[in-house]
Amino acid sequence: MRRVGVILALCLGGCAGVQNALGGQGAEDSNFIRLFTLFMVVCTAMYLIVTVALIAALWRRRKAVLTIDDRRHHQTSNAVTPALIGWTILIAVGLVGLTVASFFTDRSNAANGSNPQLTLTVTANQWWWDVEYHFADVSRTVRTANEIHLPVGVPAQVRLKSNDVIHSFWIPNLAGKQDLIPGRQTDAQLLPRKTGLYRGQCAEFCGTQHANMALDVTVESKADFDRWYAAQLQPARAPANPLQLAGYRYVTTRECGACHNITGTPASGQVAPDLTHFASRRSIAAGTLPKSTGNLYGWVADPQSQKPGNHMPTVGLESSELHSIVAYLEALK
Ligand code: CUA
Repeated sequence: MRRVGVILALCLGGCAGVQNALGGQGAEDSNFIRLFTLFMVVCTAMYLIVTVALIAALWRRRKAVLTIDDRRHHQTSNAVTPALIGWTILIAVGLVGLTVASFFTDRSNAANGSNPQLTLTVTANQWWWDVEYHFADVSRTVRTANEIHLPVGVPAQVRLKSNDVIHSFWIPNLAGKQDLIPGRQTDAQLLPRKTGLYRGQCAEFCGTQHANMALDVTVESKADFDRWYAAQLQPARAPANPLQLAGYRYVTTRECGACHNITGTPASGQVAPDLTHFASRRSIAAGTLPKSTGNLYGWVADPQSQKPGNHMPTVGLESSELHSIVAYLEALK
């Protein structure tokens, strides 16, 4: 009984919160929920009808065995009865209805992306997400990592790429999954309908840290989005005290800057998450750890113990270097 309770709790736990395919906070997700409900109702009705018919047939057969003479048991009939015609029509109507509903759901989802007002490229890497927002004016391009911000009610087109293996882009509250395939570009359409904080998750096994490849999604008002975007357009904040300055010097002249970019500084690496506004994000290492000073210490000191196999090496920092790097990163709002 306790086991059943635990399983039930786990199942219901999946029905709420930041990563929930039944959340319905996106246009596509709402469409899927409607289609899913229709399939459930039709299939449940069909199942009940068939079950009742089966029980009735067994019941009649049982009575017949008791009353009818033995020879008649082996007689079969090819007669087209009204019941047979009724069943056939019922099944045909059910199947055609579900097919038509699927078709219109697909058309409606496609229409969501027909006139995007926001375009971004999400590139998957083992095991993090590179995000770039595009505008006709290239000086307005913004690059970030492991997070996307979307204005509510604005259709967005997400171009999807991969730098290594096949991944899958999935924000359950907003839309269905879409694969990211090396050497090809795919795309996904997002039309968020409710503001909130959601969680995206890679949905295709892509190596040891597949489970730790998440994406923080913020759906906000247009004004909040514009504010966030304006902040992202700014270069990184300059170090404000000697400790931050020491961190700045380490990050921009030693190992870190070879992989990470921090706009406005000499750190211009392109193979790891952009850190220009790192401190404004909600998590560390693609959703692996909530962003906190303690977690940041742990991550910078020894990323391999936090997320084994990821491509950030454990450098072996002196404690003074560690303090200064953390102080500098925390200032990158
Ligand atoms: Cu990327 Cu799983």
